[in-house]
Amino acid sequence: GLTRRALLEAGAAGVALLWCGPRIAGAGPAPVLGFASLPPTTDDRVTLPPGYEQRVVFAWGDPVVTGAPAWDPAATQGAAAQALQAGMHHDGMHLFSLPGQGVGAPRWLLAVNHEFVDPGLLHGQPSTAQRERVLKEQAAVGVSVIEVRPRAGGGWEQVQGSSYGRRITARTPMRLAGPAAGSPLLATRADPSGRSVLGTLGNCAAGETPWGTYLTCEENLGYFFVRSAGDLLPEERAYGLTAVGLGYRWEEAERRFDAVHEPQELNRFGWVVEIDPADPASTPVKRTALGRFKHENACVWTEEGRPVVVYMGDDDRFEHLYKFVSANPWRAGAPPQQDLLDEGTLYVARLLPDGSGTWQPLVQGQAGLTAREGFPTQAHVLVLARLAAKSVGATPLDRPEWAAIHPTSRRVFVSLTNNYKRGLAGQPGPDLANPSGPNPYGHILALDEAGADPTASTFRYEVFVRGGPQAWVKGAPAQAASPAFGSPDGLAVDARGVLWIQTDVGNAARASPGHAGFPNNQLLAVDPATLEVRRFLVGPRGAEVTGLVFTPDLRTLFINIQHPGEPSGSPEHSDPARPTAVSSWPACDGLTRPRSATLAIWRADGGEIGA
Ligand code: FEO
Ligand code: CA
Ligand code: CA
Repeated sequence: GLTRRALLEAGAAGVALLWCGPRIAGAGPAPVLGFASLPPTTDDRVTLPPGYEQRVVFAWGDPVVTGAPAWDPAATQGAAAQALQAGMHHDGMHLFSLPGQGVGAPRWLLAVNHEFVDPGLLHGQPSTAQRERVLKEQAAVGVSVIEVRPRAGGGWEQVQGSSYGRRITARTPMRLAGPAAGSPLLATRADPSGRSVLGTLGNCAAGETPWGTYLTCEENLGYFFVRSAGDLLPEERAYGLTAVGLGYRWEEAERRFDAVHEPQELNRFGWVVEIDPADPASTPVKRTALGRFKHENACVWTEEGRPVVVYMGDDDRFEHLYKFVSANPWRAGAPPQQDLLDEGTLYVARLLPDGSGTWQPLVQGQAGLTAREGFPTQAHVLVLARLAAKSVGATPLDRPEWAAIHPTSRRVFVSLTNNYKRGLAGQPGPDLANPSGPNPYGHILALDEAGADPTASTFRYEVFVRGGPQAWVKGAPAQAASPAFGSPDGLAVDARGVLWIQTDVGNAARASPGHAGFPNNQLLAVDPATLEVRRFLVGPRGAEVTGLVFTPDLRTLFINIQHPGEPSGSPEHSDPARPTAVSSWPACDGLTRPRSATLAIWRADGGEIGA
């Protein structure tokens, strides 16, 4: 019979064949992509190839919950209005189809993350009392659930007055579940049980489960929390706490945001939160088995009768790539199985110099994760997952953002967005995936699990795509005409095997000489047959491009434009006196303050996106 090693190589060869695509004798492989790559542009609009249409479906301030007022262009509405309207800074999202009710097509729900806020745009009345400002900011983060439907004349629209409309904010009650729930590490004065918490924040990217739930991922805790006095504890420093955060001053209105007053509150954020978008009365659940770190997205793999696997990046310099493998198998057609995410093993990736890798389990009592090392319980391992990962020898990476899995080869792609500090004095040396100095443009790793089995404990990896003045793809026959891009962030692999790359070059980096000639942030596609990179979309000024999701027929692409108009200062907040200084997208009239928004994109001829 085949040895384990032979099986492994056969698996890897199968993956390579898929990626080479069909070969035609005498000619190169036929491309899957059919649009011409866009030239670079810094226009303040969303630019698409000829033949594509776009429509804003859902912008900051749009009504979500019945009774919400319309958006106020002067931004003078208060927290109560904002709590019923779309939040700011749209990020990850997913589309859910519900069974049709009565006559007609299925109903479609869109769950959208709102990652953080720009106070300079949010508050049209800068003189408002701090408590009211905080309440409005807390109402502008979290998640929106809206109903959408195809629209006569093309594209999609939000269904006004839908009973599914829901806002989840930094004040929505939620439950803590899994091995760390009830731990003293999660207990506060307001919740001595350590099982219930108010709100979610830093909602970066997302995931979806086959049982119809949405996974929203909490990332930058350090924007919202502070320690206003005294020295930071090592575990606070490890999770990005500072004395000032991003300058929101939430602690002045609510003391739980200051570690001096409520030291454990920070531990109750940084989780993957599961939401049932079809039940507006449901309580969101923080799934502690998936570990606490600066979560980027949650890339879920399921197969009948097998454990659920969730790939997750931790977006900070020198942080890690994780995966969760559930203890119990997923059964298609069974009742919703949310509790599958409460029991299982969390692993962290270790990359070796020969291109192999191992998944190290983060299990209390194993591999030095003992009381003596600061991990007396599994709750300690999960709440302080970053420290546990380092303790088992996890490989430091260049800011792991989204993971995406190829639907048939099961190859896993991970964006390592950039790392300006790698290799500099006093910082960890070059990592194994990219051996030379700082990494200003980022790259995308490809992982092939042993036997193409997502539950495997070993894998092989390679750098598959590199950003830069010319994109580079491993094995591509010609790279000369490749477009410039940097800071890959959001990823998706569609049913045809096209790898889609969304970028998030920060506005300070954008203004630096190393990015001269680069367009605004963009969406690119890697052709699975030719390995060519083509530029599909360029966003407006100051924005990142994120959240992409396709309808199952690949004929509509939903995508988010986050923080149009963001300036390059530090922190990157707009000047309230000049809200349109950088952008006025999507109005594009030079007068109206910019708004993060969800776009629907389709082809005028009704064809598949990208073909
Ligand atoms: Fe929210 Fe790392 O992006
Ligand atoms: Ca991101
Ligand atoms: Ca990013």
